[in-house]
Amino acid sequence: MILPTERLGVGLGYRPELAADLDRYPGEVDFLEFTGDHCFSPSLMAQAQAWSRRIPGVCHFLSLSIGTAEPLDPEYTEKVGEVLRQLGGPWFSDHLAVTRVQGVDLGHLSPVAFTEETVEIVSRKAIYLQERFGMPFLLENITSHFTLPGASLTEWDLLTKIVERSGCGILLDVNNVYVNASNAGFDPYDFLRGIPLDRVLQIHLGGAVMRDGVMIDSHGHPVPEPVFDLLEFVCDNSPVSAILLERDRNMPAFEELAGDMRRARSILDGARTAESAPAKALPA
Ligand SMILES: [Fe+2]
Repeated sequence: MILPTERLGVGLGYRPELAADLDRYPGEVDFLEFTGDHCFSPSLMAQAQAWSRRIPGVCHFLSLSIGTAEPLDPEYTEKVGEVLRQLGGPWFSDHLAVTRVQGVDLGHLSPVAFTEETVEIVSRKAIYLQERFGMPFLLENITSHFTLPGASLTEWDLLTKIVERSGCGILLDVNNVYVNASNAGFDPYDFLRGIPLDRVLQIHLGGAVMRDGVMIDSHGHPVPEPVFDLLEFVCDNSPVSAILLERDRNMPAFEELAGDMRRARSILDGARTAESAPAKALPA
């Protein structure tokens, strides 16, 4: 599927508590990411529809469980379609993860096996979703603190093969790359050099914190400096359209969020895309 080229800019995940600040600071938020699962509730759907008439929106889902070796859940998939019909958007996304097995909801994002079989399972579903909804589908990389036994691929090779096989795009969570690299001991730039950056349309930018020697993807702390460096590298080498600042806990004053968004916007504005300039030298 051909990926859209329109630029969305820098945004936030919508939550009702943000409404007053969105009113008070018009122009600070270029787009809103709606968690599609929350919009299954009629009252949140009504809010999302009202906001999407004022600020462009994209839908992000939590529970397609695209990595499960079973068909997509028909009831959940139908609800995804209903949200997309109501809210539209240039693309929709979910995680490269397992969240449901044999009808049991695991309640969190579990990693997939890094194998050729997973490439087949996920690619088939990504192709189906794009055809059914007529919209580009983006897969987001997750954090995990272990690798399932039997891996024959790296995380970035797995993502690359799925993208090449299915034609889907990437929602690159640069914080998740940083966290996995810190915990597993690989170079985050190996990940970035290893994926088709020309398929990255959206970025998640978030906070992380070290606890008991383990890096945690907290969504509740400031964005670490090395994550801004990764963001800059990706923006310089891909057609990124949208950067979402993820902050779900320890919500600071809106001015602090706006400061991080302005910094991300200046990185996006200053980016040298692969089309417009030679790619930035890859860090060794
Ligand atoms: Fe994310």
